[in-house]
Amino acid sequence: MIGWRRVRALVVLSAIAAACSGEQRIDDLFTEQEWAYLETFRLDQLDPIRCTGDTRRCDELARFGQRLFFDPSYAGPITVANDGANGGFGAIGETGKVSCDSCHDPAHYFADHRLANAQSLGTAWTKRNVPGLVDLAYRESFIWSGKYDRLEDVLDLALTSPAALNSTHDRFVDVILERYLATYNALFVPVSPVMVSAEIRKQIYLNGALAIATYESRLVSGPAPFDRYLAGDKHAIERAAKRGAQLFIGKALCSECHDGPLFADDRFHVTGVEQRGDHAPAIDRGRFDVTGDPIDEGRFRTPTLRHIAETAPYMHAGQHDSLGEVIEFYRWGGDAGGFTGRKDPRIVPLELTDDQVGDLVAFLRSLTGAPVDPTWTTKPRM
Ligand code: HEC
Ligand code: HEC
Repeated sequence: MIGWRRVRALVVLSAIAAACSGEQRIDDLFTEQEWAYLETFRLDQLDPIRCTGDTRRCDELARFGQRLFFDPSYAGPITVANDGANGGFGAIGETGKVSCDSCHDPAHYFADHRLANAQSLGTAWTKRNVPGLVDLAYRESFIWSGKYDRLEDVLDLALTSPAALNSTHDRFVDVILERYLATYNALFVPVSPVMVSAEIRKQIYLNGALAIATYESRLVSGPAPFDRYLAGDKHAIERAAKRGAQLFIGKALCSECHDGPLFADDRFHVTGVEQRGDHAPAIDRGRFDVTGDPIDEGRFRTPTLRHIAETAPYMHAGQHDSLGEVIEFYRWGGDAGGFTGRKDPRIVPLELTDDQVGDLVAFLRSLTGAPVDPTWTTKPRM
C-alpha cells in the first residue's frame, strides 16, 4: 500500500497541470495520473486470507462455523426486553434467543438495519454501530477500535459482551458438545463428552472460534460497477459517479484515508463525529482504550467503503442514517464538538457544491459489488 500517497500527490499536481495545458482526458474526465491512481482501488488486487490446508476440510470448517453463527442456543439471558418496537428478541431472563445474525443481518451485508441511529439491540443495547461483516477477510484489524488483529479473537467479545450474546465460553463449549459432537469430532482431535478437562474445553472453544472465523472469511463480495468501469466498461457507472470519483481522489480529500482496494487504510483517525444516539455513551475514546496512547484519543478505524450503500447507519455510533448525511458531515469539516481527541487536520470545510455532494453519493453507490454467494448467507439446517 506504500507509495499510493505519493501517487495521490502527483494526481493533484498533474490535474492542475493538465487543466492548464488542455491535455487529452480519459473518458473526457480523468488525467492519466488520476486514472493510474484510481486503478490502485481495483478489487482484483486483493487476496483474501484463505483457510490453509485441505480444501474439503476448509469447506467443512466454514460450514460448521456457519451453523454456529446462526445458532441462538448458546446465548445468555436477555436484559433488555422486546417492547414491541425496539427490535428485541424476548423477555428479560430468557436465554437462547439471540444469535450472531440477530444483529449481523445477512440480507444487509451483515450490518444492522433494524433501527436508524440507535446502535443495536442483542441481549441489551450496544454502545456502537454494528459493522457489516463482508470483506473482513481482507482486513488487518477488527472492531471500530482495532482491538483485535485476528478474526477468531473477536468471538470473545461477541460471546461475552452483555449487549451481544451475554454468554460465556463454558456455555459455547457445552453447546458444541451437546449439539455438534459428531461434526466437531470429524474436524478436530476427537473428544469424549464425559470428563472433559479444562484444557480440552479451552481447545474446543478455540476450534469453535476458528470455525466461525473460517465462515466469516467466506463472506466476500464480487466486483462492483466501479471495478467494471476501471476494467474498461465505460457504461458501468453513470457520469455523476465518475465526477464523484474524481472529487473523491482530489478536492474532497477522501482518499487521504479511504484508499486501496477496500477504500480503507487500516489506520485510525479522529473525524470529529459527535457522540449521539439514545444508547451511545457520552464519551467513546476509541483506539485509546486499546493502546493507552494519548495520540489515539478518539480515533476510530477507517471503515471500508465497499458496499457502503447497503450498510446504513454510518459511523461508529450510527450517527448518520444516509450517505447524503455523511457527505454533508465532511462538507462542513465535521462536527464542532461532542467528540474526544483532536480532529484530523484533513477534516476541513470542503467548498463542495450541492451537485458535487450528489456526485460523491453517486460514486459511493457504485461501490456495491456482487453480493456474497447465497450458500453462505442463508441459515443452514441446524
Ligand atoms: C447486539 C448485536 C450483536 C450480536 C448479537 C453480535 N454482534 Fe458482532 N458486532 C456488534 C457490534 C456493535 C460490533 C462492533 C463492536 C465495537 O466496535 O466495539 C461487532 C463487531 C463484530 C466483528 C468485527 C467486524 C469488523 O468490521 O471489524 C465481528 C467479526 C463480529 N462482530 C462477529 C460476531 C459474531 C461471530 C457474533 C456471534 C457469536 C456476533 N458478532 C454477534 C454487534 C453484535
Ligand atoms: C482523516 C481520514 C478520513 C478522511 C479524510 C475521510 N474519512 Fe471517511 N471515515 C474515516 C474514519 C476514521 C471513519 C469512521 C469514523 C467514526 O465512526 O468515528 C470514516 C467513516 C466514513 C463513512 C461511514 C462508514 C461506515 O461504515 O459507517 C463514510 C461513508 C465515509 N467515511 C466516507 C468518506 C468520504 C466520502 C470522504 C471524503 C469526503 C471521507 N470519508 C473522508 C476516515 C476518513
